[in-house]
Amino acid sequence: MAEERPVTIVTCSAPVNIAVIKYWGKRDNDLILPINSSLSVTLHQDQLKTTTTAATSRDFTEDRLWLNGEEADVGHPRLQACLREVRRLARKRRGGSSEDVAPLNLSYKIHIATENNFPTAAGLASSAAGYACLVSTLARLYGVEGELSEVARRGSGSACRSMLGGFVQWQRGQRPDGRDSLAHQVAPETHWPELRVLILVVSGEKKQVSSTAGMQTSVDTSPLLKHRAEVVVPERLELMVQHIRERNFEGFGQLTMQDSNQFHATCLDTFPPIFYLNDISRHIIALAHRFNAHHGSTKVAYSFDAGPNAVIFTLADTVAEFVEVVKRSFPPATNGDQFVRGLPISSASLPEELLTAVMTEPVPGAVCYILHTKPGPGPQLVDDPSQHLLGADGLPC
Ligand code: DP6
Repeated sequence: MAEERPVTIVTCSAPVNIAVIKYWGKRDNDLILPINSSLSVTLHQDQLKTTTTAATSRDFTEDRLWLNGEEADVGHPRLQACLREVRRLARKRRGGSSEDVAPLNLSYKIHIATENNFPTAAGLASSAAGYACLVSTLARLYGVEGELSEVARRGSGSACRSMLGGFVQWQRGQRPDGRDSLAHQVAPETHWPELRVLILVVSGEKKQVSSTAGMQTSVDTSPLLKHRAEVVVPERLELMVQHIRERNFEGFGQLTMQDSNQFHATCLDTFPPIFYLNDISRHIIALAHRFNAHHGSTKVAYSFDAGPNAVIFTLADTVAEFVEVVKRSFPPATNGDQFVRGLPISSASLPEELLTAVMTEPVPGAVCYILHTKPGPGPQLVDDPSQHLLGADGLPC
């Protein structure tokens, strides 16, 4: 029997993030350099996360990849770019010092397994968590520390923001080589303890036009996008940072809704136009505005990415009431007991005036479920070996 040689295994988890000032459009497609800076909230991994295990051994004969249990193409250019960059940084770090520091051989083949605990490509920023997780795991494996958002950016633009917890800004940068196009933390996840996030999943289906393809068409055809990137976003970013620093929900919420709306306006201004919102999304938008109008202030703020799911930002004291309104507006079709998931929510009785002011004809089954979460930390090392997605033989367990 051949002698078994050791397999080095590392597992990390990484979060999803939701942009409140949206990234849409690249000035360099290969390096993934954006036309504007953006700002996001990192969501808690207790509710939404990607987990990735990477294993390497002298005995592996080829690089292999498993996505949610299915073997997938390891040759994907963006994955290869991340792998190449982490290995380059590892070499640079070891430069000079010979094999005594982190002697892991960079030329050994690698096995990678990755899993999401939420539907892939449902408009829940799975590529952001996925690439942030890949880069964090590879960096641990090869002993690379320090600035890694630049590497995650090569996987997916929004992934660079998932490398940090809390409130994160991705600076567009000026340099053609992208060395200054990095993410940094504006405030940690503990900064605004009352902030809550509700994800209203309206469709689990794969999106029609990918973000990558959609934003390219927008860059090529939308004059509104150009104006947005040059004039609107720089002003809004400054304002958004200020609202976050001051924990000003009125300002934060309004700007979040306006920026989501402008992103979808640039999609409509794209030629041919792109539609990510559907009738249910628009129904939720109208409901949020009626809810806020009834209260005379911004109590809930919606944001939509490249899909119809709504992300609602609110404060802890509003969650129960708004969830009750959503339940009544979109009564669950079948999974009544699983309709509300994530952080616990107490029940609320709705005053008559509120019902009269916000309710319209209910649309049963339009919202599949509601996920209740909050801001959370950046990527984490998973210490517990029972959580590895690859066994001691380097194959999925
Ligand atoms: C609408 O990061 O998925 O979610 O860089 O081509 O991988 P690529 O695009 P991606 O785009 C995300 C767009 C967005 C807005 C945002 O997250 O800022």
